[in-house]
Amino acid sequence: MQDNQNIEERKMQNRKRRELLIGASALAGASLLSPIARAQSAKLRVGLMLPYTGTYAQLGAAIENGFRLALDQSGGKFGGREVEFFKVDDESEPSKATDNANRLITRDKVDVLVGSVHSGVAIGMLKVAKESGTLMLIPNAGADAATGALCTPNVFRTSFSNWQPVHPLGKVMVDRGHKKAVFITWKYAAGEESLASFKEGYAAAGATVVKELFVPFPNVEFQALLTEIAAIKPDAVACFFAGGGAVKFVKDYAAAGLKDKVPLYGSGFLTEGVLSAQGDAAEGLVTTLHYADSLDNPRNKAFRAAYGKAYKTEPDVYSMQGYDTGLLLAQALGKVKGDIGNQKAVIAAMEGALIDSPRGQWKMSKAHNPIQDIYLRRVEKGDNKVIGVAWKALEDPARGCRM
Ligand code: PHB
Repeated sequence: MQDNQNIEERKMQNRKRRELLIGASALAGASLLSPIARAQSAKLRVGLMLPYTGTYAQLGAAIENGFRLALDQSGGKFGGREVEFFKVDDESEPSKATDNANRLITRDKVDVLVGSVHSGVAIGMLKVAKESGTLMLIPNAGADAATGALCTPNVFRTSFSNWQPVHPLGKVMVDRGHKKAVFITWKYAAGEESLASFKEGYAAAGATVVKELFVPFPNVEFQALLTEIAAIKPDAVACFFAGGGAVKFVKDYAAAGLKDKVPLYGSGFLTEGVLSAQGDAAEGLVTTLHYADSLDNPRNKAFRAAYGKAYKTEPDVYSMQGYDTGLLLAQALGKVKGDIGNQKAVIAAMEGALIDSPRGQWKMSKAHNPIQDIYLRRVEKGDNKVIGVAWKALEDPARGCRM
């Protein structure tokens, strides 16, 4: 309540400040530097709301690294403005998302909210961003509603919708002769929406999900369900897991003796940023995703080299998404000369942006989600190798989005 009031007050203050600035600049000549130019020379306040602890901790760090790399490469400034960061560990905890986002907006007065990884957290943030009119960029969370039923002009996603990466996977598996699959995942939006999308594509290819298995997020006690899979003897298993949970799942799957008996597939998050921890257990896994380490384009090669040099570690899909979030801000703020308060122009610039990404060039859909290629990948010698394009220029259906 208090926070809502603060948001209302802040909206009003911002409006007044803009009117004053515009009014003052109309008087002209009073100062060599106009008030708008002065406002633009202040630091840009960026709120990073990401998981820095828990099963997605590594994903949050990779996103921040990628974002900072894009900032460094644009001379440490977006639209001519230096950046001040305000960081919150969201713990991948949806129940804390509203308070955390409100704090960044009302206390830290951020110009833009960047977050998060977890779908439930991102939806909490989005509601606050929508209500307060704060610009928000989603560098990972796939919650379909963010660019579907809850779509809003001031929210953009630079990653994917949960519907996207697994949409082509069903056909891939049918082409490989697997017509009866078990789907296993965490019981929360990202898992449930991945399952729904997979089922759609798998059914369209004439195949059936024979069993749906769930683990509460972020638990990693898989043993009982692996025993159940062994008893069912499906043609294959498909899944959504990521981060620390994906390491444990892939290792447990192999340790249970299933790897050579029942082929495992998934959205490519399963093998992103975790290959060295998974070791041999991940070799040969086939997945679909909007990125792969070995993508053969100059942009990806330069990105991987620069990231490796800056952070002494290999980038992954999360690093790339953080990087693209920085590229989008750099491009849009460049267009408006740093005037992020001119939200109409910032939104128009983001809607028209062409992002020259390591994943390949992409543009925003009408619902503010990337239209992008989905690659078929296989783990080879500890690398996510591209073995094909599973779907060219895939656009999320944006169900329920009216904008
Ligand atoms: C999500 O919660 O939306 C999510 C989390 C981790 C991923 C992908 C999606 O790797």
